[in-house]
Parts: sequence; C-alpha cells; structure tokens
Amino acid sequence: MVGHTSGALLVFGLCLQLTHAANILAVFSYSFPSPFLLVGPYMKALVHKGHQVTIISAKNHLADIDGARHIRVEMLDQLMEDFLNYDFEKDFPMSKWQQALIMAEFFYNSSRYILSDAGVQSLIQDKSAHFDMVIVQASHTDALYGFAPFYNASLVGLSVYGTAWNIDYLAGNKAPSVYEPMSPDGYSTGLGLMQKLKNWIYITEEWLLEQLVYLPTQMQLYKRFFNKSAESLYNIRRNFSLMLINQHFSLGRARSNVPNVIEVAGIHLENPSDQLDDDLQRFVDEADHGFIIFSMGMEITGKWLPPDWLLIMQEIFAQLPQRVVWKYEQAPPNKSENIYISPMLPQRELLAHPKVKLFITHGGAMSIIEGAYYGVPMLCLPMYYDHFGNADRMKHAGVAQIQGILTMTVETMTNAIKELIKNPVYAQNAQQMSERLRDQPMSSLDTAVWWTEYVLRHKGAPHMRISEDDMSFMQYYSLDFILVFFVRFGVAILIITCVGLKLLSFLLKPSHILSSVPLLK
Ligand SMILES: *[C@@H]1O[C@H](CO)[C@@H](O)[C@H](O)[C@H]1NC(C)=O
Ligand SMILES: *[C@@H]1O[C@H](CO)[C@@H](O)[C@H](O)[C@H]1NC(C)=O
Ligand SMILES: *[C@@H]1O[C@H](CO)[C@@H](O)[C@H](O)[C@H]1NC(C)=O
Ligand SMILES: *[C@@H]1O[C@H](CO)[C@@H](O)[C@H](O)[C@H]1NC(C)=O
Ligand SMILES: *[C@@H]1O[C@H](CO)[C@@H](O)[C@H](O)[C@H]1NC(C)=O
Repeated sequence: MVGHTSGALLVFGLCLQLTHAANILAVFSYSFPSPFLLVGPYMKALVHKGHQVTIISAKNHLADIDGARHIRVEMLDQLMEDFLNYDFEKDFPMSKWQQALIMAEFFYNSSRYILSDAGVQSLIQDKSAHFDMVIVQASHTDALYGFAPFYNASLVGLSVYGTAWNIDYLAGNKAPSVYEPMSPDGYSTGLGLMQKLKNWIYITEEWLLEQLVYLPTQMQLYKRFFNKSAESLYNIRRNFSLMLINQHFSLGRARSNVPNVIEVAGIHLENPSDQLDDDLQRFVDEADHGFIIFSMGMEITGKWLPPDWLLIMQEIFAQLPQRVVWKYEQAPPNKSENIYISPMLPQRELLAHPKVKLFITHGGAMSIIEGAYYGVPMLCLPMYYDHFGNADRMKHAGVAQIQGILTMTVETMTNAIKELIKNPVYAQNAQQMSERLRDQPMSSLDTAVWWTEYVLRHKGAPHMRISEDDMSFMQYYSLDFILVFFVRFGVAILIITCVGLKLLSFLLKPSHILSSVPLLK
C-alpha cells in the first residue's frame, strides 16, 4: 500500500515536470552552412521530445528532420549566391556605414524572401495555425520576430555568434560589465578607461546603425506582412523569453547573464561525427612528429584569401617536421610530401586524434569551441566579425596565438607554429580549458532543450526577465549615486571657491595690500 502511494506520488511528481507537446515554429534565415550545425541537433531534440515543430529555412544546409514539418525558402539559397558574387572590391575600403547599408539590404532581403515565400504565406493565411513558441535566430532580421506577436507565442532567440550588446538588449541583459562592440575593429575587453571609452563610442555607433539603418527596413516589412503597428514590434524586441547563446564561461569570457540568457556552447558537438577515410587515417597515424590541422572553416574559400596565400602556406609547411592536414579546394603547385589536402575534413575526429599538435583556424565560433573541447592549442587567422574577439579570448587564455591574414610573413607564421608546438604551456592550458568546458551538469543540448521546455511550461516565463519598471535607467547605472556624489563634490568646490574668492578680494583690497606689504608702508 505504502509502495503504491509513493509510486503514485512519484508518477504525480513526474507529471508536474512533463511539458505538454507544444506547437513550435522555428524561423532560420541563415543562408550559409555553419549555423545549421547548431540548429540541426536542437530541432531534432525538440521533435524527439514530442513537440510539433515547423521549420522555415533555406533548402540547402539543413537535412530533413523526421517528424518535423519543413517550409523551404529557396530564395534564401539564392541570397548567399548573390552576396558572394557581390563586387566588394568596387568600393573598397568601405566605411562602417557603407558596410552596414549592404548588410541591412542583405537582412532585408532575407526577411523579405521568407515573408513573401508562397509556403510561408499560406502558413500566415491559415487561420487554424497556432503556435505556442517561436524560435528565431537573433540577428538583425527583426521583421521575423513578428511571428511571435502574430501567434501570441513566446519568443526564443538562438545566437550562434555568442553575444554582443544587441543580443543583450533583446534578452533584457543590462549589466554594463558585459558590453563589447560587435564589430572587429572596435573589439576590446574594456578593461582600461580608454578601452571603455572606445567601446562606448563603437557601441553608440552600432546602436545608431541599428536604429537608422537596420531597423527601419525591417519595420517596413513587419508592417507590410503582419499588418501590425510598429509599437508591437518594439514591444516584442523587448520581450524575448529566452536567449540561447553559443558561448560558455570556460572559453575565456565570464559574463554577467540574467536568468533568461543561457550558455549552450557545444550543441553542435552532438552531430554524428564522420569517420576518417583510410588514406587520411594512415596519414595521421603514421605522423612521427604529430600533425597540424589547418582549416579556415566551412564558408571561407580560396576566393576570399590573398592570391599568394597558397604558395606562402606551402612554403611554411614544407619546412616543418610535422604533417599538415589542410582543408582546401585545391592543392598548391609542388605540394610537399607532408601535406594532405581535402576540400572536406572530419574536423572533430582529427582534433580528437592523439597525434594532433596544433589547430590553425580562422577563429569561427564552432571551430574555437571544437579546438577548446578537444584541448588543442590554436593559431588563429581571424578574418571577420566574431573571429577577432574569439581569437583574442583564446590568446588571453594562453591557448592560442594570432597572426594577421594580411600582415603575416613566412617567418612570423613559422615562429608562431614552432612556439605553439614546442612550448608545453599552450598544450597544458588547452587541456585545462577542455576539462573545464566538459565539466557541466548536463550536455549543452539537454540544457537548451530543458530551458526551452521550461519556457513552455511557464507560459513564456516572464518572471525570468528583469522588469524595466523594477530597475530604472537611473538606478541601474547608479546615476542617482553619481548625481549625489557630484552634487556634494560640486557644493564643496563651490564653497571653497567662494571662500577663496572672498579671501582673495579681501587681500587684494588696496588698503590691505598697502598695510600687509611691509616695503610699501
Ligand atoms: C537584394 O535583392 C535585390 C533584388 O531582389 C538584389 O538586386 C540585391 O543585390 C540584393 N542585395 C543583397 C545585398 O543581397
Ligand atoms: C493573445 O493573448 C492575449 C492575452 O494573453 C489575449 O488577450 C489575446 O486575445 C490573444 N490574441 C490572440 C490572437 O490569440
Ligand atoms: C490591416 O488591418 C486593417 C484593420 O485591422 C485592415 O483594414 C486592412 O485591410 C489590413 N490590411 C491588410 C493588407 O491586410
Ligand atoms: C616546382 O618544382 C620545380 C622543380 O623542383 C620547379 O622548377 C618549379 O619552379 C616549382 N614550381 C613552383 C610553382 O614552385
Ligand atoms: C511578454 O511575453 C510574455 C510571455 O510570453 C507575455 O505574457 C507578455 O504579455 C508579453 N509582454 C508584452 C509587453 O508583450
């Protein structure tokens, strides 16, 4: 009997934890492959949990997920093709504002292609469609956030590039200690006063760009396709229930997060890994001095790199005792014996190999996480956006060195490679970082799914957000305190000045001067 009761209690307890199957709409406008490394496992896991998931995405890059409903927007695939064919050289170098104008058009095109797609339109017109939650990528495609107010659903953001002030804004994370600009030139850790000032200027500039360039075009789309007021979009931008960010504090950046910001770096490690083919397996197994992995990620091809790049790299690698596994579309002329070239590499399998010595990488978010997870020292060649910040944090943590893609020479590259391989400190630090990153209560994927369901269970979980009324701008930045301080300080200075002036004028009165200077008496 007792057993029965406790059994019933247990079942009852479990039921409380259960989330009813929900209707989830996921909208990803990414038009390049790497973000889908995260999206895939996350969506699969939600389907596996029994939720009805509808995914709007490009045709390429995301394989069909059994049990999910896919709405494919083919124009998104076109978008990237157009973008890669864009003639950037014609107005190079570009100012930040020119870059922003192009990017704003790019994001405008993404949102427009999605909202005007026939499949998406029939979803919008379908009066019976109903969603409890909308999951979006959090990045300048604000018109798409409009699905949330349209369906009265709670909104979850996925930020593949970790986070920046704009993501923090969406999540309601106001802690000033975490602010870094998005753009590479402005990147700094914000430690010194001058760095803080520089960050502040950059962030203000980025904020202006968002308000004046990115948002207006998205707003136009939102009003056109959802037929709703501008205010409702501003409201939803301040009402993300949850923000999943692809970063972890063990990766050299501890930050203050509010409760609805959850760090989930490593979701993409849940993808099944590819095996090394026999040739490559033999090549790395037989590397007597170990081997180096060299990959500039999934998106950067030879077209993006300086013309003499191939020859320089070949020259550097040819002198090394280590073998080099190089992800590249073509072999350099006179490829030396110790180089293995392939356009696709099972990167994680290689990083996990006991003979790996060094990972030469562009510093993309996924590569950095993989390098850290497998505890391999890195040589970063950052090229754009988040690469600079990622590389900087790895260098700061003592697991990496950085070389400029345009400034490096055969000599600087060779020295950096030798230092990273010979000096054991890098490998030790990388090992420590790996142990910290792996030491988590549950996997990143389970964490992401758990918090997603938490938001479903608690109807958008508004209690996780800092209410703007709870904390006014004045209070949050301790402006009231600063004001009091300056008022006191000011009053004190005022009094001293007044007294000083009085004293001076008293002393300067001719009669007193005459009487106080003995010689003139
Ligand atoms: C946006 O789309 C238009 C036409 O639909 C195209 O002409 C333009 O080049 C695109 N812009 C970008 C930055 O992709
Ligand atoms: C959305 O939710 C609010 C309250 O939560 C309700 O008043 C409103 O009618 C709902 N709208 C739709 C379209 O379901
Ligand atoms: C937008 O909504 C208004 C009233 O709510 C309606 O009169 C108008 O026809 C709608 N426009 C479109 C394009 O649906
Ligand atoms: C390739 O090697 C041959 C012989 O060693 C040499 O003559 C030729 O210049 C090399 N080509 C390049 C592009 O380095
Ligand atoms: C914000 O979202 C929560 C939960 O999704 C909802 O209850 C609340 O009404 C929303 N607030 C605004 C201002 O949209």
